[in-house]
Amino acid sequence: MGNYSNVLLETSDNIATLTINRPKALNALNKDTLLDIKAAAQEVAEDENSHVLIITGAGEKAFVAGADISFMSKMTPQQAREFALLGQDVFRTIETMGKPVIAAVNGFALGGGCELAMACDFIICSENSKFGQPEVGLGVIPGFGGSQRLPRIVGSNMAKQLLFTGEIIDANEALRIGLVNSVETADQLMEVVTKKVKKIVSNGQISVRYCKEAVNEGMEADIDRSMTLEANSFGLCFATEDQKEGMKAFLEKRKAQFKGK
Ligand code: CAA
Repeated sequence: MGNYSNVLLETSDNIATLTINRPKALNALNKDTLLDIKAAAQEVAEDENSHVLIITGAGEKAFVAGADISFMSKMTPQQAREFALLGQDVFRTIETMGKPVIAAVNGFALGGGCELAMACDFIICSENSKFGQPEVGLGVIPGFGGSQRLPRIVGSNMAKQLLFTGEIIDANEALRIGLVNSVETADQLMEVVTKKVKKIVSNGQISVRYCKEAVNEGMEADIDRSMTLEANSFGLCFATEDQKEGMKAFLEKRKAQFKGK
């Protein structure tokens, strides 16, 4: 896989892992790091051997401690707007890519870090993780989608509490409010995430992609439109070899061998 200055990208067993790699700055996101994340995500999206992407942070302390405050501190309003649009575009690339993206949060996920995790399909975190949107304490608001994705995930009232107070919550509180799916010990985190991801990889790739599309697009549409979306994708599954193999294997009482075709 390609070489990047600010992220590491590796693939094994059809699982790609993207590690944000600026541990000295707690993996804070500057422009170059955002561009690397986008290029690496696009590489994974196009790579036939990568079926799932895991995103995590280098070091033991942080997933991502936010957008880079020293980079942002001198921006003009126009530059700040462009920086927000860039971050939004990169995270939207992750959210809409045709493969599942799982956030393995291993420490601070603040501001842009929480926003990056929320752009993934779901979040599994370590016990030492901390989440929050502390932007109001810096005199700004979230810029990479936090004010929009947080209420969609935890509901508008809890989102407003977190956004207005800027308070940092621990892993168990994140679990309680439904921001993360599970909390693991730090040394077990990658093992648990990999186990979960292997289950995804063993399923029909196309049907997993259609599930992602159905949830993402359906959540933004009215119920009649979203039901139509589901029925259309259900129908399309029957054009795949995977559907034939999956149902045949069930009837023959054996494990299906999916090809992603
Ligand atoms: N941007 C730039 N540098 C950062 C950073 C950030 N978001 N977060 C941490 N760092 C740097 C620190 O400046 C420090 O660098 P030096 O060693 O050169 O001084 C290094 O990472 C280690 O950090 P600390 O010494 O602060 O570590 P700590 O353990 O004492 O504290 C922390 C950890 C609570 C996460 C603290 O670093 C912190 O509060 N960071 C900022 C969190 C934040 O406000 N994030 C939101 C940013 S705004 C945003 O993201 C806007 C948006 O939506 C687009």
